[in-house]
Amino acid sequence: MTVAVREQHSCTAALLAVGSTPRKIAPAPEDVTHALAVARYQSPLRYPGAKSGLANVIGELIRAAHQSSTMREVDLLVEPFAGGASTTLRLVGAGVVKRAILADADPMVAAFWQVAAARTQELVERIADEHRKYVTAGSSMALARWDYWRAWTPVPGTTRATQDLELATKCLFLNRTTFSGILHGQAGPIGGRAQTSAYGIGCRFNLAGLVQRLEYVGHLYETNRLVDVWRSDWKDTLHGVASHYKTLLPNRIVAYLDPPYLSKSGKLYPRSFDVRTAGSSKDLNWQAGLQHHHLAEYLRREMQYRWILSYDYDPRLLADDALYAANAMRPSGSRASLTGVKAWRISKRLVALNYTASSRRGRGSAEELLLTTLPPATVPFNERLRAIS
Ligand SMILES: C[S@@+](CC[C@H](N)C(=O)[O-])C[C@H]1O[C@@H](n2cnc3c(N)ncnc32)[C@H](O)[C@@H]1O
Repeated sequence: MTVAVREQHSCTAALLAVGSTPRKIAPAPEDVTHALAVARYQSPLRYPGAKSGLANVIGELIRAAHQSSTMREVDLLVEPFAGGASTTLRLVGAGVVKRAILADADPMVAAFWQVAAARTQELVERIADEHRKYVTAGSSMALARWDYWRAWTPVPGTTRATQDLELATKCLFLNRTTFSGILHGQAGPIGGRAQTSAYGIGCRFNLAGLVQRLEYVGHLYETNRLVDVWRSDWKDTLHGVASHYKTLLPNRIVAYLDPPYLSKSGKLYPRSFDVRTAGSSKDLNWQAGLQHHHLAEYLRREMQYRWILSYDYDPRLLADDALYAANAMRPSGSRASLTGVKAWRISKRLVALNYTASSRRGRGSAEELLLTTLPPATVPFNERLRAIS
């Protein structure tokens, strides 16, 4: 077992405070009854790169796959690039999947989801305090607090639990008060330093709405719909899920992967596939984007359960043999014998979307590429999900 997987375990332990084993899959209630289960917005984070509308399309793919005799239903959805987790929250709320695991390599984002899930009321109190003392006290107080959180780093000697609560508060505060919700780099406070615009630093900090969304996350965790949250790299997540939930392999688990963009992701996320320093304005050097190739190779050769992958569309994705030119994934020898699967066909679709935050082409509509190993006969093509010739 690698160090990274052990770290993933320790995050599980930090989240659950019950030791180092992952949470068991226990029976889930039939329906999520919380009022937010069908609301338009469910995530407390307004995440850069979150795609409005895609969750419903992913839901359409999974529901269609339930018609296949090999799948019937999805027990566990895994989202290794969780970010704002809008897809997981929607699909679990709608009952499309029974439950989910979230993971992200960014320690701030992972701490946010861990604390929101397992220590909801502490985070609610912490963020309500920030709102009362600073955001409602006027823009200069709020700006001072924005500077405080931007500069904040964990205080040495404090406990992991204290650090995680502060990290989670930092994540939520900056996400709601920074331009496009960007958590690091050059992005400044909403409304700028001068705060002369009608949309000032507090305009996206609706406390009552945020508390309701945090409580929804806590509810999903309490009712065993949100099974766990890991701070881990995508590979450890995919591998860890396969080894901890063997009985669900290969057809009861689906991974939904939404990796960083091919270009400019270093500007949006501190953990990006972009090997250049974060904040640089040049596009990704394609040859340097090895992580994209590693992910493609893993999905083609190693993956032990089905997956759906979304990418900001770039023609190179489908032209490059080292990316997704292939039409099937063929698990390597040991993986094939573990799951009994010799090959999975890869279905490819294009979807027109509206992005909620800056995309490769800037804010607005863009085309999304969806690739999946769900049973091909069930993958719809229609006006929304266009087949690729
Ligand atoms: C495109 S965003 C995901 C957006 C998400 N689907 C949503 O709706 O908000 C990509 C995410 O991947 C995370 N990430 C980047 N590199 C990673 C890695 N190597 N392993 C796991 N997560 C990573 C980033 O921190 C970021 O949250």
